[in-house]
Amino acid sequence: MIQRSKLTLLALPGLAVLALAAQLTDSSVAAPGSHAVVTADDDEEAGPLHESMEVIQKGMKGIRKMLSKPDQKDAAVKLCQEMQAAALVGFQHPPKPEAVLEGDALVDFNADFRKRMLTVCSTLVDLEVALAKGDADAAKTIYRTLGKQKKEGHDAYL
Ligand code: HEM
Repeated sequence: MIQRSKLTLLALPGLAVLALAAQLTDSSVAAPGSHAVVTADDDEEAGPLHESMEVIQKGMKGIRKMLSKPDQKDAAVKLCQEMQAAALVGFQHPPKPEAVLEGDALVDFNADFRKRMLTVCSTLVDLEVALAKGDADAAKTIYRTLGKQKKEGHDAYL
């Protein structure tokens, strides 16, 4: 627990800290059905991991059209930061294993999930940097890497 919050604090840029703090506050005090800060408009009852995934998914779709459009750089950077915050929300909500897992197997299941979500977040920071620098080639490569991370994550956890 201590380790996780230390990691979260170290890993977050200012904006994401704010978004994450607001999300945490929201989910800890809010009545059921109220709106989260990072939201994908629908499926709110499906849980924070689902919500987080929907935000990242919508971001992926939005950003694909901006990859080689320097005039949309600011919007693309903002979208990346929102997706990073969403990944860090998902990070805190590992899914329940399909099979009964105990002991080390359960430890590994949860740790691997969280590391994958951190990797997605880290890759999204790389994407943000490439977009901010107007490096469309790098942005496209990194975008494809995110697609692979999604597929591998879903193969393992869906
Ligand atoms: C770019 C990265 C990713 C995107 C865009 C993405 C997108 C999505 C979407 C759209 C869903 C909803 C699927 C549905 O309702 O049928 C989903 C669900 C899920 N994803 Fe991802 N995903 C990504 C990465 C990952 C990774 C890395 C993992 C595992 C470490 C993961 C694990 C899951 C799980 C467990 C669910 C089910 C959660 C639920 O609906 O309650 N995803 N994802």
